[in-house]
Amino acid sequence: MNQPLLIVVLAAGLGVRMRSRRAKVLHHLAGRSLLGHALARAQVAGASQIAVVVGRGMAEVRAEALAHAPTAQVFEQATQAGTADAVLAARGALERHRGDVLVLFADTPLIEAPTLDKLIGALHGANIAVLGFAPDDPTGYGRLILDASGRVLAIREHKEATETERAQRLCNAGAMAFRVPSLLALIGRIRNDNAAQEYYLTDAVAHASGEGLTAQPVVCSPQEAMGINTREQLAMAEAIFQARARANAMREGVTMIAPDTVWLSYDTVLGRDVTIEPNVFLGPGVVIAEGAEILANSHIVGARIGEGARVGPFARLRPGADVGRHVHIGNFVEIKNASLEAGAKANHLAYIGDGRVGEGANIGAGAIFCNYDGYKKHFIDVGKGAFIGSNAALIAPVKIGDGAYVASGSVISRNVEPEALAIARSPQELRPGWAAKFRALMQSRKKQS
Ligand code: UD1
Ligand code: CA
Repeated sequence: MNQPLLIVVLAAGLGVRMRSRRAKVLHHLAGRSLLGHALARAQVAGASQIAVVVGRGMAEVRAEALAHAPTAQVFEQATQAGTADAVLAARGALERHRGDVLVLFADTPLIEAPTLDKLIGALHGANIAVLGFAPDDPTGYGRLILDASGRVLAIREHKEATETERAQRLCNAGAMAFRVPSLLALIGRIRNDNAAQEYYLTDAVAHASGEGLTAQPVVCSPQEAMGINTREQLAMAEAIFQARARANAMREGVTMIAPDTVWLSYDTVLGRDVTIEPNVFLGPGVVIAEGAEILANSHIVGARIGEGARVGPFARLRPGADVGRHVHIGNFVEIKNASLEAGAKANHLAYIGDGRVGEGANIGAGAIFCNYDGYKKHFIDVGKGAFIGSNAALIAPVKIGDGAYVASGSVISRNVEPEALAIARSPQELRPGWAAKFRALMQSRKKQS
């Protein structure tokens, strides 16, 4: 039987090694903060309660925690005295809780849901389950000290470990699950008599085995367990995430010509038979439906792309772009907070912001939605089947009726009724023979000088 599960996410560390003004856990991986990743994992691990430990005065970290887990309890750790001290900061949640406890580090964002399930499952046969991994370079990680039967007797922090202990390849990934009579009592026994003068959560294992409790390792891949302490590690983790996400997408039926050049976000949704050409960036909030094609060098954030649509090359879709079925968006077209209904086209050089483009309408090259007056954004509505000529400027708020034509080069600031033609440009003047006369005049002047 699974017990109620309290998950304590530790996010109070200063992250000094990041050399950043921002807290480490607010740095982003695939479009979401490290803390956001940890909390998403906590939620799928089936937590009955989530506690997040943040540093004193870390208002942004607190806000980020609540944005991702609105029902979480946030605790402050007064000073960063170590991971055991951080768990004790969540005393309020631990005292009330009856059941299992899982501790997660917010700087270890790649651990996958099935791995956490295994870790929690291991509590059926042990009091403590420790997530272990064997990295190529174990420097800095705590080493798992095992007995002959493979149980964990202790975890030795790198700084404290002897040469023999350091030779031990299996390291602590940080995630640890507990089914013990009192976690508070166990952690309360941890001392800071070590090189760093920190209260190490990892010492809980030695105390537990001293009391006859058992600890079991659960091993995962080094990619999953990677902890982020530096910007280099952040970039390595990003690369691991991207490789994983691309492989998943391709497995689900997405074609990528040069997968290594395609960037996805944590929440990217790609339908079957989507094709993505090289050098495409998909930021958070992108949903691409079946059969759509994203051509090279497009930058897309917060946008929906309908079935069979074609976007790019060199298109920019910003938040709120809603591109309907079979819509064509061509090169150097920027769309923000605007919907293009089925079959509409904007093939070259246009800005479409805060508006609607009706079914089958055509937006010519160089057309601009002038949606901003310096204070406010206004709406532009282009009706079904309308034709907006090249280089037209539509000044918001304005409505172009169904099937209407706007002549090229027009500046439109008044509504155009359906099926009408609007021309708003100075009439053309024609002077027959002018050019020949002009050239003759210029040449005669040249001879005189
Ligand atoms: C920790 C482990 C180490 C493990 C490694 C895995 C300890 C003592 N060491 O080392 O065995 O191999 O992670 O990546 O646990 N934190 C707080 N308050 C504190 C200190 C840390 O909330 O006072 C949080 C940090 O925000 C971070 C996590 O705890 O999310 C881990 O802290 P960090 O200092 O990065 O530990 P490591 O040195 O990486
Ligand atoms: Ca760490």
